[in-house]
Parts: sequence; C-alpha cells; structure tokens
Amino acid sequence: MEELKEITLASMPRIGDKAPEFRAVTTQGNIHFPNDYQGSWVILFSHPADFTPVCTSEFMTFASLESKFNEANCELVGLSIDGLYSHIAWLRTIKEKIEYKGMKNVEVKFPLIEDITMEVANKYGMIQPGEDNTKAVRAVFFIDPHGIIRTIIYYPLSLGRNFDEIYRVVIALQTADKFSVATPADWQPGDEVIVPPAGSCGVAKDRMENTDEDVHCYDWFFCTKKIEKEEILNAILKKEELSH
Ligand code: BEZ
Repeated sequence: MEELKEITLASMPRIGDKAPEFRAVTTQGNIHFPNDYQGSWVILFSHPADFTPVCTSEFMTFASLESKFNEANCELVGLSIDGLYSHIAWLRTIKEKIEYKGMKNVEVKFPLIEDITMEVANKYGMIQPGEDNTKAVRAVFFIDPHGIIRTIIYYPLSLGRNFDEIYRVVIALQTADKFSVATPADWQPGDEVIVPPAGSCGVAKDRMENTDEDVHCYDWFFCTKKIEKEEILNAILKKEELSH
C-alpha cells in the first residue's frame, strides 16, 4: 500500500465564516479583499499555475461568462500560483493566440491575483498537500455582499470546473436570500422551491390539510411552492440588463 503522505493541517475557511482578509497585487491593480467587494457577490477561484491547459480552458470560459455573472451582481476574482509578469504573458497569449470551443480574442477583464508566495492560497486552504504542495487546487469560494463565505467547491488539479453549476449556485443562493426559501436537488430557476419547515404542530396540520393552495406538501416536513423563473430573474438580475 502506498505510504500516506504526512499532512500539515492548514487553515480552511468554512461556510458561514467571514472571508479572510488580504491585500494583493493583481492584473487589474491592487485589491483589498473582500472589503473592495462590499455590496456585491464575489467568486474567488484558484488555479494551480499559469500556462496550463485545464486552467486555460477554465479561464477562457470564466472570461466569456463574466458579463452574465456581473448581471447577477457577482464579480470574479482569480488566483494562480505564479507571478504578475507570468499572469500578464498568459492572459496576452489567451487573447492573441488561443481559439477554443468557439471562444477567441478572449480578454480577461477581472483581476488575477499574483500569489507566488502562496500566502493567499494558504489563507483559503487552497494548497492541499495530498494533491500538491505548491499548486493550488481548483477552489471556488462564493462570498456574499457582506463578506460571508456561503458556498465552497473544491476540484482536483485534473478536473475542469462546471460553469453551469457555478452560475446555478450564485442564482440559488440569491433566490434563497430574497425569497426565504431553500432549493431542492438539481434546482433551476422556475422549478419549485422548498418553503421553511413547519415550526409548530398547528402549521404542520395546516400544511397537510392544504390550507394554502400555493403550497404543495409531500409530507408535513417537505413542502414546496412555485416561483416563476421571471419573478426570480427580475429580483436578481440588474434591471438595465433585463431590458436587452
Ligand atoms: C492544467 O491546468 O492543465 C493542470 C495544472 C496542474 C496540474 C494538472 C493539470
């Protein structure tokens, strides 16, 4: 059996924690995180290194989707374990040379953090020594407008992220906040949402007797209601974007 690698426990922010603060140099100037993003959702995502194929495919995809995330009041911030000049060279190569799945001349307008010292990556538990000692895993932190971490997804080095899922998480978190509901398995806007569980025997009884015709109960603890896709998107997407 392969010998177990000795693991040094690094700090790992958790869901519900305040996003650890840092100042960093990026391809768009200096940032003070998460303070500069107060009032917006922000996705902080990490890459193992520049000039690597999976990362390039992901970076092009994220850059192509940036306006869609921005419409949902969500900013993007990338991190890669390389220096600023390498970042600039990589982004120039992407724009000037790479055509991939119909994406070309892709300009990355969101900040890419220089983290050659791995200081930020270590703060966010992005270095996972069982996977690699010097390359960040593919982490995705979803941070709300108050700077609180709301969802974390980790992928290993060999697995490119699913961007439909990343967008779905942003919309589902905002839907949960705006409508005080939860979202069931594989939820998409327009599907039924889950109403808060009955908090008293009286409410449980009412629910089972169908006193609210908008609410459908599978059992007293599992009740759903419909919120139209349009209502959700109207509540979430920036108004000026909806008119296009
Ligand atoms: C990549 O992005 O292609 C990659 C980076 C590090 C390890 C393996 C793959």
